[in-house]
Amino acid sequence: MNAISEQLSDDLKPYLEQQQNKQLLRFITCGSVDDGKSTLIGRLLYESKVLFEDQLGQLEADSKKLGTQGDELDFALLVDGLAAEREQGITIDVAYRFFATDKRKFIVADTPGHEQYTRNMVTGASTADLAVILIDARQGMLVQTRRHSYLVSLLGIRKVVLAVNKLDLMNYSQEVFERIEADYRAFAEQIGLTDIQCIPLSALRGDNMLEASPNTPWYKGPTLLQYLENVPLQASQQSQAAFRLPVQWVNRPNLDFRGYSGNIAAGNIRVGERIRVLPSGQQSVVTGILGAGGEQAQAVCGQAVTLTLEDEIDISRGDLIALADAPPMVADQFEATLVWMDEEAMLPGRPYLMKIGSRTVGMSCANLKYRVDVNTLEHLAARTLDLNEIGVCNLNLDRSIAFDAYADNRDTGGFIIIDRLNNRTVGAGMLHFALRRAQNVHWQAIDVNRQAHAELKGQTPRVLWFTGLSGAGKSTIANLVERKLHTLGRHTYLLDGDNVRHGLNRDLGFTEADRVENIRRVAEVAKLMLDAGLITLVSFISPFRAERDMARNLAGEGNFLEIYIDAPLEVAEQRDPKGLYQKARRGELKNFTGIDSPYEPPVAPDIHIDTQRESPETAAERIVERLLRM
Ligand code: ADX
Repeated sequence: MNAISEQLSDDLKPYLEQQQNKQLLRFITCGSVDDGKSTLIGRLLYESKVLFEDQLGQLEADSKKLGTQGDELDFALLVDGLAAEREQGITIDVAYRFFATDKRKFIVADTPGHEQYTRNMVTGASTADLAVILIDARQGMLVQTRRHSYLVSLLGIRKVVLAVNKLDLMNYSQEVFERIEADYRAFAEQIGLTDIQCIPLSALRGDNMLEASPNTPWYKGPTLLQYLENVPLQASQQSQAAFRLPVQWVNRPNLDFRGYSGNIAAGNIRVGERIRVLPSGQQSVVTGILGAGGEQAQAVCGQAVTLTLEDEIDISRGDLIALADAPPMVADQFEATLVWMDEEAMLPGRPYLMKIGSRTVGMSCANLKYRVDVNTLEHLAARTLDLNEIGVCNLNLDRSIAFDAYADNRDTGGFIIIDRLNNRTVGAGMLHFALRRAQNVHWQAIDVNRQAHAELKGQTPRVLWFTGLSGAGKSTIANLVERKLHTLGRHTYLLDGDNVRHGLNRDLGFTEADRVENIRRVAEVAKLMLDAGLITLVSFISPFRAERDMARNLAGEGNFLEIYIDAPLEVAEQRDPKGLYQKARRGELKNFTGIDSPYEPPVAPDIHIDTQRESPETAAERIVERLLRM
């Protein structure tokens, strides 16, 4: 979200400087396909005269050629044309448009309504003060209207304009308008939206867009533009909140100067005020504030600044500077709402990255409490979150972060989720609160530690992780390796998938979600065995790279050997030692690895055993040799 605002402010700088003194209203428009969103935005842009002459000429020409409105201007063409231009070369689908009237300047985030609408809406709404939700008067409230409203509410937007569009096609009926208004208010109240202005419109004909329409004499409220120009701004909420500066970089041009730069996410700061750095908790006093125009005595929310401090303290990118007496909380376990945006489902237990402010930390969902049906608002039991689904879960981080509840501060409480392997943004979320249990469970110091255990056994503990298809020969080879090590007097333990699934993991099946949890647990057990000083052999299909990487991280780089027992599917299937491939082919066994459940081979395994070329005996020897050389 923040990267997007940054990009936006770069684009906008010259324009905004001209308009310095006008208030800025950011809003988002949400509508389903065909309910006239492009026409509405196009008309606002056109009427506010920010279009260049040549763009207008082009629009007239295009309307005659391609338009659907006879000789009239087709505003939809204008917006769609701009969108195509802007979208070239940028990765988000949200088009930001700028216009101004005598009273205010506006940024409207136009979010396309296709399948990726959740991603686009989250992006567009994360910085908006207000949402314009369109309804086609002929259709009334749709599933989409509820989804959009729910997301708007979730993302912290409190003001909504319900634009009841195309009322011309319903003979400007007061009854139709009032019925839609009543339906909407009843729904909106359930999701905490109460500040709603309903406006009867025809964006195409211009009714109640700028001037009150003679076609709706019964409507006494403001026109769309009047409302946008006069609605009180809430942006003050963030500026009145306690001071927060996420540190984007440490500015150290020479030995005499050290400053901390970033955008002020909330509140304001003055020279001489006492600050606290998080998560470390160190304190100091602000000695200088550098802004765009040089030294300044104070700075406010939204400004990009560099602070200098009285003391030399250790601050790095990703830290947060706050007022000393109003610091945010610091924690590593949270309850949060997640909005999932990726084709590949969110799996509890799988390691992801969380980017919050300028900080990136390891994250996993410990348990999914429920998924929300955005149509009925029901809480449904769920094991995973699919594309566009929204759920509430407990999160674990691999480090503590400073944060505020999203409800208090969108910048320090909102985050995005990134896939560790391909760097895609796969979700977004909002922190609710830190889990109290995290504050009450501490690390207990133990005197007889890993090193002590290892010394007594006279060996270096390691994890040997065997991965491969069922029937590839993992258990056979792991068993041989363990026997050899045993003969050499080493202390070992073999964790085998089939065996562990009879006990500890008895409750798990073979869905992707269950396999992730299967591997998470065995990786944790392997880590405990490592602490106990053992050479631990793990023989599980472990089909996904993400979880094998997690196991490696848990064990610690240098303690872990990934051993790929490689047999092509045809070969494993031919061996079929347990008759399971046959069963799977007959359709009696679902989600069988290699048949209807994926296997992701290691990209760079530490040891690669080609089972068609190498006997189990020589493979085992090679593995033992490699282990002894580590
Ligand atoms: S993993 O994918 O979660 O790592 P794990 O190694 O624990 O799997 O268990 C695999 C063993 O379970 C196989 O060797 C096989 O004997 C048995 N099994 C039963 N059903 C399946 C299935 N659908 N897919 C793979 N293995 C299965």
